[in-house]
Amino acid sequence: MKKSADIQVFIIGICLFTVLFSSTAVRAQKTLKEAYKNYFPVGVAVAPRNLTGREAELIVKQFSSVTPENAMKMGPIHPEPDRYNWQDADAIVAFAQKNGMKVRGHTLCWHNQTPRWFFTGDDGKQVTREVLLERLRQHINDVVGRYKGRIYAWDVVNEAVPDTGSGIYRQSKFYEIIGEDYIEKAFEYAHAADRDAQLFYNDYNTESAAKREKIIQLLKKLKAKNIPVHGVGLQGHWSIDEPTASELEKSIQAFSSLGLVVQITELDVSVYPKEHERRERKSSDNGVLTPDMVTKQAAQYKMLFDIFRKYKQDLTGVTFWNVSDRSSWLDNFPVPGRKDYPLLFDQNYEPKPAFDGVVNFE
Ligand code: GLA
Repeated sequence: MKKSADIQVFIIGICLFTVLFSSTAVRAQKTLKEAYKNYFPVGVAVAPRNLTGREAELIVKQFSSVTPENAMKMGPIHPEPDRYNWQDADAIVAFAQKNGMKVRGHTLCWHNQTPRWFFTGDDGKQVTREVLLERLRQHINDVVGRYKGRIYAWDVVNEAVPDTGSGIYRQSKFYEIIGEDYIEKAFEYAHAADRDAQLFYNDYNTESAAKREKIIQLLKKLKAKNIPVHGVGLQGHWSIDEPTASELEKSIQAFSSLGLVVQITELDVSVYPKEHERRERKSSDNGVLTPDMVTKQAAQYKMLFDIFRKYKQDLTGVTFWNVSDRSSWLDNFPVPGRKDYPLLFDQNYEPKPAFDGVVNFE
């Protein structure tokens, strides 16, 4: 009798130990930055509102780098000719420094979110090439100069190549007024302002064969002229059904063969088929997350990170665009008001099924 009671206690003890041990194992799950410490920094795009409370805790725990989502774009940081708005950008850089994180700067020259004053003279007319170049130089000098030594990499020119058509240059105001050399000038100005910063050309849809080819042509021209361009940012606004592994590998191989490093700069995996143009919401856009989407997203994230690790010689950083599914720019793009679920943390900041496949690997 006594003996069987002892055995029972023993068995219960073993069960308890197993339960406790395995739940500790779950709790002690690797973080993104631990899992990737021998590979590349894992970053996240932030706004000042993310830097307090639970979001700040999650950011510091999981990530090793930050990018200001909007705070350093031309419009927000330089709203009027003689006025810079440093507050938000300063707060993000200070947060990173306090927590020992790297900072990627985004972005010095982009056709979107550029204030109208940039292209307009006192007379209300469009400025000349000389005036616009000088404004661009001053802007880049001031912004890069302010954070010199604290920002290790900059997206210098963003999205200069169009998705369609045969030309390699997007018909932006910078292109129309200055000509194609606005791109090389932007890189030269950035290099002059901080000789140590790594300078990136950044774009989306870089896995489409036609667009990849145009970006390669653009970069080859820059390299042939010895322009200080060091890397290519693949934005990585992807979805559960694109890109394929082979499309992604082709892009990484093609860009690194030009002697450039590659970073994934704005990663998110939409649960909807990819669309690059804004459109109205339809009744079928109900914003419901299905089990099938969850499974496909986990598989897509796993595939992406398997490839990122495979190319760790060429890939020097991966940055997520937003912190958690609580709020993403994709909730309003391409379909206004359609909820998306593109990140590794859910609306309560808990790791999603996709997280496991990213941090657990041989
Ligand atoms: C582009 C830009 C980013 C951001 C996203 C949407 O990818 O590079 O700065 O505006 O669009 O958030």
